[in-house]
Amino acid sequence: MTIKSRPRWNRCKAVALLLAAAVFGGRASALGESVRQVLSFDSDWRFARFGPQPDGSIRPEPGRADQESQRPVTAGPAAPAFEDSDWRQLDVPHDWAIEGPFRLELAGETGKLPWKAIGWYRKHFAIPARDEGRRVFVDFDGAMAYATVYCNGQYVGAWPYGYSSFRLELTPFLRFGHTNVLAVRLDTTKWDSRWYPGGGIYRHVWLVKTAPVHVGHWGTYVTTPEASAQRGVARIEVSVENQSSSAAEVLVQTDIREIVQEAAGAKVGSSPPARLTVPAAGSGTITLEAIVLAPKLWSLEATHRYIARTTVRVGGKVTDVYDTPFGFRTLEFTARNGFLLNGKRVQIQGTCNHHDLGALGAALNDRALERQLEILKVMGCNSLRTSHNPPAPEFLDRADRLGFLVWDEAFDSWSHGKRPLDYNRLFNDWHQRDLQSLVHRDRNHPSVFIWSIGNEVLEQQDVALTKHLADAVRAEDPTRPVANGYNDPDGGRNSGAAMALDIMGVNYFFGQQEKWDKDPRYQNKPTIGSETSSCISSRGEYYFDGNRSGWQVSSYDLDRPDWGCDPDTQFRTLARWPHILGEYVWTGFDYLGEPTPYGSGDATQLLNFRNDPSKREQLAKEMAELAKRQPPSRSSYFGIIDLAGFPKDRFYNYQAHWRPGLPMAHLFPHWNWPERVGQKVPVHLYTSGDTAELFLNGQSLGKKSRQPGQDFRLVWDDVIYQPGELKVVVCKDGQPWATDVERTTGPAARLVLEADRAHIRADGRDLAFITVRIADLEGLTVPRAQNLVKFSVAGPGEIIATDNGNPISFEAFQAPERKAFNGLALAIARAKPGQGGKITVHAKSEALAEASLTLRAK
Ligand code: GAL
Repeated sequence: MTIKSRPRWNRCKAVALLLAAAVFGGRASALGESVRQVLSFDSDWRFARFGPQPDGSIRPEPGRADQESQRPVTAGPAAPAFEDSDWRQLDVPHDWAIEGPFRLELAGETGKLPWKAIGWYRKHFAIPARDEGRRVFVDFDGAMAYATVYCNGQYVGAWPYGYSSFRLELTPFLRFGHTNVLAVRLDTTKWDSRWYPGGGIYRHVWLVKTAPVHVGHWGTYVTTPEASAQRGVARIEVSVENQSSSAAEVLVQTDIREIVQEAAGAKVGSSPPARLTVPAAGSGTITLEAIVLAPKLWSLEATHRYIARTTVRVGGKVTDVYDTPFGFRTLEFTARNGFLLNGKRVQIQGTCNHHDLGALGAALNDRALERQLEILKVMGCNSLRTSHNPPAPEFLDRADRLGFLVWDEAFDSWSHGKRPLDYNRLFNDWHQRDLQSLVHRDRNHPSVFIWSIGNEVLEQQDVALTKHLADAVRAEDPTRPVANGYNDPDGGRNSGAAMALDIMGVNYFFGQQEKWDKDPRYQNKPTIGSETSSCISSRGEYYFDGNRSGWQVSSYDLDRPDWGCDPDTQFRTLARWPHILGEYVWTGFDYLGEPTPYGSGDATQLLNFRNDPSKREQLAKEMAELAKRQPPSRSSYFGIIDLAGFPKDRFYNYQAHWRPGLPMAHLFPHWNWPERVGQKVPVHLYTSGDTAELFLNGQSLGKKSRQPGQDFRLVWDDVIYQPGELKVVVCKDGQPWATDVERTTGPAARLVLEADRAHIRADGRDLAFITVRIADLEGLTVPRAQNLVKFSVAGPGEIIATDNGNPISFEAFQAPERKAFNGLALAIARAKPGQGGKITVHAKSEALAEASLTLRAK
């Protein structure tokens, strides 16, 4: 894929970042096995699916364990002797639903994929006899949903919220020197969602071994009370667990090291050692301080980070070494002057994103995630909202490295659900633990700058509950502000509930901004557009009468649901009230599910008009009509970038506005309209320049200028279509700035392949994203081509998924063939683990010249 105007520095930066592969976060230690061991527990699981099957039939679950019984389970998949040799063998992260098939009768809201099921995972693993005396834990980064875990037939514990990370201790259930069996039951039949959640152990799993005296789970909390270019102070709160039978006299000390190329570099500071007595079977906390002279500050442009390496000693012997990455930076949120990072104003140019990775589903893949962030970075996005749940830990790690600020969100609902089986079922028993898991896990990341306790919850006017949740977060981290995303901002403000927050998040409804600014109670509360625009479009589709046709939406970028607005209108809103901290566009990427405006069954849309009964009624009517027509839509239209990762036109609208110093121009639509010769085809331009002249076949069609703060695109509405060359010449401040050209192409003649990276790691996880263009003889992309492309691979690699960004395609993501959608398709390739060498990806399509491309795996 070629993203126009991609600057050189960004490419270099991306490559440099990819070379790095260190592991931190308490996950590695310099001293090796004798202290702390963190092992990937991803490989070699057995899996079986029960309850609802992909085709809709029901497969009964074999004899179920009594959930919390203390007695060993002797029957069913939790029992160690259970016969699982015919179960499927796989590695996690795994999403059992992404294989489909898509079924028309399933809800569009959750992607028309069969994600509701009961899944069992079993893993047989050896624990060496020499580990006797150590403590052994299993860490799940996320399991969807209602996880119940058994070890050797004994109930270990449970964690229902599928987006939370959690740790369980295995030590008392293990057989040292033998093979052990871990069994995990997941149940998504008990879960409801407004978007595609996936199902399964969809994030990484880790086995952690420690000495009895060790740093607790997420047991360090690093803050930086001083962070200036002259001096940094790192305050490290360490919680030490003593799981031995006698009290321990512990010496704790922390060194600060710079992170250089993702590895621990030179020591730049250290705390004096401190003593702590930790009672038997108890824990203790101690706070250390280390000074770093002339620290390199973490910023969006230069993501300098440090490691706090904490060493725990008992009787002179090291019992734990624990690394915590962090950064020095200051955050300031003001109601009048916006948000300041290290004292400098940064306008929040954010996107909201759900967690799925398109064709790979919800199963986390580190490279797929990183690619998403790289694409957003090129657009000028500088902040990410993890709508509407805790992200994968790797998400924050990449945000730290690539330079994004993160709005880290806990919930989409509280005690009143939007769907019968959503978080409302868990709220009373679990919200404290889920909030604590989120904050403890994430509070050392320099990228995390705002905690969000919710999104459009039904209790937006509940003063006590808002305060309770905000305080619960502050108790764990008082250094960052707490926000909530309001779609009833008037209700939130008038009730006083928003007083309990530090920042007022407004989703869409800015109409009362002037009034709010005068409200004396909110003079010190900054406002941010926690969700904006909700513009909808299908990449490469353009309509001239209206915006919608054939379950697609025109890419002129003017359409949106009634609560939203086009990007330009939102830019105007922000220009009018420059003290608003910025915006989070709904959404950066298309995602599986919620195919508004063709989401017929999603009654939660009505909640956006809670104060407007007539609009609510009208939407309800439209949805009832829609349901009769059975829309095939299975993924969203909201993305600035489509599901395959191809930018839509809107990408360049944001790039023009968010990166004003980047010379760029983007003309649309394409120029293949044989059926419109002699008729009008409106031409739009996104540019960071200020004046543009449009030419058709060398003839000027006139100059247009942008009014700052008012115009975010230039439009020539009356262009009469003739095939040929449409060209724009853009100036800025009177100087030549950028050009763009759209040419009428010849018929489809050949395939052209391009990979995002030519070199990948042969670890079975690293990926190459290969764009296939349907091109004419000259190599121009044929913009309406829908040819079927078939892929094959020679060498030690495989195609694991294909896509084209079409929200109504029912083709299987795993198929090695894919129809192009408006000229483009995507193949995702990986090397077989441990098998380096040359991988040749070959693409063919009837009547077109074939193409191949070589990747190198090491
Ligand atoms: C918001 C909601 C999002 C998404 C969006 C679509 O109200 O918070 O999750 O549904 O609408 O426009």
